Amino acid sequence: MPRLGLGTWPMDDSQAAVAVAAAVRAGYRLIDTAENYRNEHGVGTALRDGGVARAELFVTSKFNRRWHSVDGVRQACVQSLARLGLDYLDLFLVHWPNPEQDRYVEAVEGLMRLLDDGLIRAVGTSNFTPAHLQRLFDAGLTPHVNQIQLHPYRLRPDVVALHRDRGILTQSWSPLGWGTGLLADETIARVARRHGRSPAQVVLRWHIQQGLVPLPRSTDPGRQAQNLASFDFTLTDDDMVMLGSLDRPDLPMVDADTYGH
Ligand code: A2P
Repeated sequence: MPRLGLGTWPMDDSQAAVAVAAAVRAGYRLIDTAENYRNEHGVGTALRDGGVARAELFVTSKFNRRWHSVDGVRQACVQSLARLGLDYLDLFLVHWPNPEQDRYVEAVEGLMRLLDDGLIRAVGTSNFTPAHLQRLFDAGLTPHVNQIQLHPYRLRPDVVALHRDRGILTQSWSPLGWGTGLLADETIARVARRHGRSPAQVVLRWHIQQGLVPLPRSTDPGRQAQNLASFDFTLTDDDMVMLGSLDRPDLPMVDADTYGH
């Protein structure tokens, strides 16, 4: 999996077609979409027309709650592939656990079958808390990836520690803390000035340097390029500690137990 990808929510088909085409030209190889974003047509068009071999691309999609059954997940996958115009997904995610529906264990079982059939290359969940993951472990299921809302104001130490214990890769959605004021944080600004980088690059570097895979979204080619240029500098241990001490659990968060598609 590439170490950084492009998020595509809330782009529509035509915005996604333009933004993904620009991103692929800039060097992005991991593109993250979802059934619920309603932009898989646009994403697929850009990927197919982008002149980059399918094997070089890493395409992630996610499915909605109505598909939480073994057969349902297969239908969801076939439909996502048709919209994208692709014949396999690199990663397919349960978009939200929807615990009140209580069928997410079946959904992950369905994903495991798709893996065996070669329709997907990796199995993932999104927005799963430790309690949801434990239900999977109890059923003998371990996803390869859990994609969660994570940034320096939202550190999620309990989930990240569990991922490390169980060998689950963490993808960070909203890695730049959109809507929280993170990019205007004075501590981050100080670190950014010292490295001659932008606050966004410092935050993305913080994700990458600890093995998290951030999925920043941008429709702007300049910011897309800037975000991708987060690999040629290194934060010091002190920088990492400083950024890792900004957690603000008081900030409102989308809640996996009450929110979901
Ligand atoms: P835009 O699409 O106009 O570039 P997140 O990925 O945390 O959800 O953040 C996405 C938001 O951050 C979008 O509003 C995006 O706006 C903006 N953004 C993306 N990259 C940068 C950057 N390098 N500097 C400032 N804002 C950025």
